[in-house]
Amino acid sequence: MEKQPRILVANWKMNPLDTSQAVAIFNGMKEEALKARHLQTIIAPPVIFLSAIAGLYSGTRISLGAQDCSWEESGALTGEISPTMIKGAGADYCIIGHSERRALGEGNELVNRKVRAALRNGLTVILCVGESARDESGAYLEFLKMELVESLAHAGKKILSQLMIAYEPIWAIGKESAEAMVPRDVHETSLFIRKILREVFKSDSALKIPILYGGSVAPENTKSLIVEGNIEGLLVGHQSLLPERFNEIIRILDTL
Ligand code: PGA
Repeated sequence: MEKQPRILVANWKMNPLDTSQAVAIFNGMKEEALKARHLQTIIAPPVIFLSAIAGLYSGTRISLGAQDCSWEESGALTGEISPTMIKGAGADYCIIGHSERRALGEGNELVNRKVRAALRNGLTVILCVGESARDESGAYLEFLKMELVESLAHAGKKILSQLMIAYEPIWAIGKESAEAMVPRDVHETSLFIRKILREVFKSDSALKIPILYGGSVAPENTKSLIVEGNIEGLLVGHQSLLPERFNEIIRILDTL
């Protein structure tokens, strides 16, 4: 059986500061991403750079994504960017519900509206979930369950192929590689997430939804997170802005 490609998402967050730097970062990783035979690379820059980056490559091995989208298609919503505009700028993916957006006040209900708007417009959703802290009593599992159930409410089974889950424990984001979650815990949590997804969609097909881990991913922990964590891919923040480091992650993932 043909092995499923791994998934690698680059979340550039609010970086870099201008188009020429964005183009340089993309060009710095393009060749490596194109060489990788078992990898789907998704680059999510700030939307303002999407068109420029889309003009640098056309093919299927590298895709583009946005980091957020509006819950509406158009209208009087100053500052918002609709899923249709994102598609039009060359992106096929959209990260939704990132913890840095949730910290600005986005709750599950709004995340759910965004998820459904993105799906309606043909974007593949990378839904982020993750607890801010772990506790002995396991309350974080209830929290994760709520995030999944409420963010995916009324999404319907038809969209299963348009969905990925990025599990990003907030306490593990933006640190050194040694402070990422230990792979054994990634594995355990991914099993829990798969169980909830099966309940939400009432279908075994939900077990095929790719699960990614994000939070201080670096070349040093790439292999163990994937192999011992038993997940389909990774979402990389700060290390995705450094082409040499990102290229190393690409090379490692491609061999797994
Ligand atoms: P990090 O960010 O890789 O810098 O920890 C991950 C994320 O927040 O998506």
